[in-house]
Amino acid sequence: MKNIVLIGMSGLGKTEIGKSLARSLGWDFLDTDDLIVKEKRMTIDHIFEEYGEEYFRDLETQVIKEVSKQNNTVISTGGGAVIREENAHNLRNNGYIILLMGKIETIVQNLNKSYGLRPLLKGSYEDLNERVRALYKKREHLYLIQSDLIIGVDDKTIPEISKEIIVEINKLKSRYN
Ligand code: S3P
Repeated sequence: MKNIVLIGMSGLGKTEIGKSLARSLGWDFLDTDDLIVKEKRMTIDHIFEEYGEEYFRDLETQVIKEVSKQNNTVISTGGGAVIREENAHNLRNNGYIILLMGKIETIVQNLNKSYGLRPLLKGSYEDLNERVRALYKKREHLYLIQSDLIIGVDDKTIPEISKEIIVEINKLKSRYN
């Protein structure tokens, strides 16, 4: 069966939700950022600092091309994966694209709990809210046009979200079969 691909901003739990979903379905799980880190043996931070964003995006595009060849796999992507149409095209070819959405406050809260800030969100914690909002605004239209399903994550547990995704995917499948 087609893959399930999670897209959306950092801090919405794509990785944790993806793992839970894969466990429930008995599927494989892949995280594009993890694959890049393993392949390059460098942290994402380090890649951005040393080689810049375009280089990271090239690695991301390559990894996405590879993971899109899988079946029965839950794929979590980095928040900027949808910037390139080529990525969205490859992911969509063999997967249902699920956009995780949440309030800016949810994102900020979760990012505050995580270790260090993502390269594109670096800066003081006081105006993190504004930086997240600005990045989201830039990407919102891409997230929306590329998704088959939108799932809200605010005030829900990971198992609840993962159950909801399964229910909604089944509805989607029955609509097209
Ligand atoms: C990025 C999000 C990060 C990571 C990189 C770039 C982005 O992934 O891919 O720092 O452009 O939003 P997460 O969404 O898992 O934080």
